[in-house]
Amino acid sequence: MSHANAWSDPSMAGPEDAARMAAFLEERAQRPDQLQVNQAVIALLSPAAGERLLEVGSGTGVLCRIAAPCVSIEGAIVGLDVSREFTAFARERAISQGLTRLRHLVGQGERLPFPARSFDGAWAARLLLHASNPQAVVNDIVRVVRPGGRVVLADWDFGTVAVDHQDRELTRRVLQWRSDHHGGDNWSGRKLLRRARQAGLTRIENSSVVYIAQDESSALTLSLWRAAEVARDGGGITAQEHDAWITDLKQRIEQRRFFASIVYFLVKGWV
Ligand SMILES: C[S@@+](CC[C@H](N)C(=O)[O-])C[C@H]1O[C@@H](n2cnc3c(N)ncnc32)[C@H](O)[C@@H]1O
Repeated sequence: MSHANAWSDPSMAGPEDAARMAAFLEERAQRPDQLQVNQAVIALLSPAAGERLLEVGSGTGVLCRIAAPCVSIEGAIVGLDVSREFTAFARERAISQGLTRLRHLVGQGERLPFPARSFDGAWAARLLLHASNPQAVVNDIVRVVRPGGRVVLADWDFGTVAVDHQDRELTRRVLQWRSDHHGGDNWSGRKLLRRARQAGLTRIENSSVVYIAQDESSALTLSLWRAAEVARDGGGITAQEHDAWITDLKQRIEQRRFFASIVYFLVKGWV
């Protein structure tokens, strides 16, 4: 099954859409679930002074900017992304924040433009669900990290979403439609462990962030509105079912009875 989607190569969407997607990434990064996951990714990576680290699929550079101060003036962070527009945006942000040890390059995660053993560590967050060949990306990340270096992989798994709703059958249809037809490989999170093993990483540590949304502030809640929209537009549910599903959830938010959760899977392994 192909999981290609707009995030697999944002440059294909044209400059206007790419600019809109870049703004979306920056805005989303401020939401509480994303702040929690980003903090967990960086804590697992534990960047240290003097290290040279790589993010593959770095987007607008949100995680690179968090990691950059940790490597100090002696170290360096390289962010690589397939999108020219995101890379240009990330470069500007890094310059405007005075992050001189942060570099952004355009490239494909499946064919990294670096010699073997060039980095002390590398990570990929929210990338593998969109990559055309996720196993090739993980294999190439392992190639460019030195022996003894570490790799961190993180993805949400939309197949783990739980929502409290009065209509169970409709809820299953909305979530399954979103999971199977929209936004890449929504089972990517559960595949990270086997990808890490297959790429030859050792001493693999599994961890997860379970985010529980109780209001509209999270990216997860926004993704539910989108799930209903894409299920309706794709013929998975009717327009009436769309409205009924959303109305129940909005009422729950107003009445403080709302519950939705998702699991982010994180894997760390050593080369
Ligand atoms: C959802 S965004 C995540 C960006 C960033 N890691 C973050 O968490 O904010 C996915 C990114 O992966 C990039 N991407 C998708 N497929 C790629 C590939 N094969 N190689 C490199 N980058 C890729 C997209 O351009 C996009 O910037």
